Amino acid sequence: MIVKNLRIVNFRNYEEQKLVLSSGPIVIKGENGQGKSNLLEAIYNLFFARSFRGSKDGDMVCWNKPYYFLQGTVYIQKRLYKLEVGYETKRKRKVVSINGKKGYSTPFAWPVVFFMPEDLELVRRGPEERRRFIDRELSQVSNYYANCLQRYKKALIQKNRLLKEKKYIDNSLKEQLYPWNKQLIYFGSRLISLRAQNLSLWNKMASKNFKTLFKKDKELQLKYNTICHDRGINSNNVEEVEELLEKMLEKHLLEELKRGFSMIGPHRDDFSFLVEGKEAKRFASHGQQRSAVVALKAAQIQLFSAEGEKPLLMVDDVFSELDEFRKERCFSLFSEAEQIFLTSTDVGKLPSMLLEEAIDYTSLEVKEGKIEGF
Ligand SMILES: Nc1ncnc2c1ncn2[C@@H]1O[C@H](COP(=O)(O)OP(=O)(O)O)[C@@H](O)[C@H]1O
Ligand SMILES: [Mg+2]
Repeated sequence: MIVKNLRIVNFRNYEEQKLVLSSGPIVIKGENGQGKSNLLEAIYNLFFARSFRGSKDGDMVCWNKPYYFLQGTVYIQKRLYKLEVGYETKRKRKVVSINGKKGYSTPFAWPVVFFMPEDLELVRRGPEERRRFIDRELSQVSNYYANCLQRYKKALIQKNRLLKEKKYIDNSLKEQLYPWNKQLIYFGSRLISLRAQNLSLWNKMASKNFKTLFKKDKELQLKYNTICHDRGINSNNVEEVEELLEKMLEKHLLEELKRGFSMIGPHRDDFSFLVEGKEAKRFASHGQQRSAVVALKAAQIQLFSAEGEKPLLMVDDVFSELDEFRKERCFSLFSEAEQIFLTSTDVGKLPSMLLEEAIDYTSLEVKEGKIEGF
C-alpha cells in the first residue's frame, strides 16, 4: 500500500502542504522541531483517526487555527481510496470519510507499521507500556479488537468506581457489579484470545528475524503472561477464557473490594521477550533488547506481506539509534514494505545500503512546517 497524494491543512506546524509521493523509501530530513514527526503523525491520523503519540485532536490543530484537515489518496489492492480526516476545535467535531462516505468502515485492516524510538525501549519498560503497545498494535490490525478494548475500558472504569465507593459485600453491590463483570468477561476474554493469537504469530517471525540481526544464532521468544496460562487454560479459546474469568472474578470479589480496584483481567496482563530462554529484561544486553523489538516490527511487516499486501512503514528517527551492523540488517528486513518513510536529522546515519547502493529513494527536507525537495 502507498499514499500517493497527501494534503495537510492546519495540522501541527503545517499550514498548507501538498505532496505527491511514490513507492519505495522516502527520506525526510530536517533539524529537530521542524515537523518530521508531525508529518508522520498526519499520515498515521489519516488511517487511524488518532495520534500515535496519544495526543488530543485539539492539540493537533495548528495554533490559532479553527480546524485541521487531512486528505490522502491511497493505493491498496490496486484500488484507489480517498481518505479524509477533519477536526473542528470549537464544536469538538471530528469527521472522517472514505471515498466521500462518512465513517471508517473498511473490510480490511490498513497495512501500516509504525516504529518510533520509544518502541526500542519496550523490553526494559514496565508492563503498562507493553500493554499500551500491544493494544495500539492490535487496534491497528483489527477494528474488532479496538471495539472490544473500548468497551472493556468503559466497563472497567464503572466497576472501579463501584469498588471504591462500597465498603462491604451485600446483594446490592453484587447486583450493581453484575452488568459490569458480564461485560468485562465478554470483552476481556476476546482481548485475551486475540492477544494470544497475535503474539504467537509475531513470535514465529520475530524469532527468525532475531537470528538475522545477530552473527551468531540467538533464540528469541515472545511469551504472553496472562492468568489463563497459570491455570492451564488455552488462551486461544474464547469460551475457556470466559469461564475462567467468571470464576476468578467471583473468587476475588472480596479482595477487589478491599483494594478498591479490579484485579482480574487483561488490563493486568503482560508479555515478555526471552533471549536464549531467559527473560530479556533482566539478562539480555541493551543491544539484544533493542534488536528484539526490531525483530518484532519486521515481523509485523512480513505478516502483512504474507497476507497479500506489502505495508506502508513509518520509521521515526530509529536508525540513528542502531549500530552499523544492525542498521543494515534492520533495513534489509524492512525492505518488504512498499513505501517507507524514514525521518532523520542526520542523513549520514541512515543505512548505507540505502544511501550508497542504487536504491531509488525520494528525499524531502522539512523546515518550519514546510516541505522542500519534491
Ligand atoms: N498544534 C501545533 N501548532 C503549531 N505548531 C505545533 C503544534 N504542535 C507542535 N508544534 C510544533 O511542532 C514542532 C515539533 O515538530 P516535530 O514534528 O515533533 O519535530 P521533529 O522534526 O523534531 O520531529 C515544535 O517545534 C512545536 O512547536
Ligand atoms: Mg521527531
